[in-house]
Amino acid sequence: MAKSVLVTGSSSGIGKEVAMMFQRNGWNVAASMRQPSRAVDLDRLDHMIIPQMDVTNEATIQKAIKQTLKEFGQIDVLVNNAGYGLFGPAEAATEEQIARQMETNFLGTVRVIRAVLPHFRERGTGTIVNVTSVAGRLSSPMQSYYNASKWAVEGFSEALYHELRPLGIRVKLVEPGPVRTDFLGRSLDMAKIEKDLSVYQSLSERVLGKLREMTETSGASPLQVAQVVYRAATSRSWRLRYAGDKNARLILLGRRLLPDVIFLGILRSVFSK
Ligand SMILES: NC(=O)c1ccc[n+]([C@@H]2O[C@H](COP(=O)([O-])OP(=O)(O)OC[C@H]3O[C@@H](n4cnc5c(N)ncnc54)[C@H](OP(=O)(O)O)[C@@H]3O)[C@@H](O)[C@H]2O)c1
Repeated sequence: MAKSVLVTGSSSGIGKEVAMMFQRNGWNVAASMRQPSRAVDLDRLDHMIIPQMDVTNEATIQKAIKQTLKEFGQIDVLVNNAGYGLFGPAEAATEEQIARQMETNFLGTVRVIRAVLPHFRERGTGTIVNVTSVAGRLSSPMQSYYNASKWAVEGFSEALYHELRPLGIRVKLVEPGPVRTDFLGRSLDMAKIEKDLSVYQSLSERVLGKLREMTETSGASPLQVAQVVYRAATSRSWRLRYAGDKNARLILLGRRLLPDVIFLGILRSVFSK
């Protein structure tokens, strides 16, 4: 019997590539997304269903899991990929923007995991792959809430790793650096800098410019990240963390080896130019 994967946020970018990667390798794929009408290309593929799922809405999560189990009989791998970035000074974001960032990136991931876990426990097996980011291991100006949401997923996942290992359930983290997707376009939520916060304006513009430049000049392709997700999902090892691409590997090596004073100094110089 072919194995099955449930992917969140499959309408574009990394999630879409992940769905296609598993399908090419003979898996049954539930490529969930908020608006299945966005499933161009995917809906024509064999062994692929497109359940509607908004990770901020519990009812859609339950329904999508039920549909996947009905269609494929089991779920072997869950890939939590849905997410977006709130950008701007911590002071400028509204309460609503902050809540939505955590609701989607952190609590969304938590909700889907909690909904799939009874199935994994019952079977005594299963793999959870959470797409976080190097932004879940380091922080940069103007991304405080995005950083907080990804650090939260990292901390949560590490605790789960310990809890679930005795039950035969694997937890994996894939941490990409900049990737050439819609992330800095349609998936960017900008905190508005009003007149009295203009002190942040130039740093904000510089950081966004730098992120765009890094993405355009040396960003990974979503396919490269999908390959790492597939490798993590199919590995029999209990390794927790995977760098999402070669830039991420270098950044994470720096984070691991350098004392904070040096590592933070390097980041500061990157964003001050
Ligand atoms: N691109 C990067 O540089 C980068 C780097 C490191 C990590 N990441 C992470 O990679 C993941 C995928 O991002 P991407 O780069 O592939 O960007 P993307 O192409 O913009 O994809 C984001 C996906 O998340 C979905 N999504 C957003 N809110 C959702 C919700 N409430 N429920 C369900 N789906 C939702 C979007 O769906 P809609 O079509 O409905 O909007 C879209 O499918 C994110 O978790 C991101 O943090 C990205």
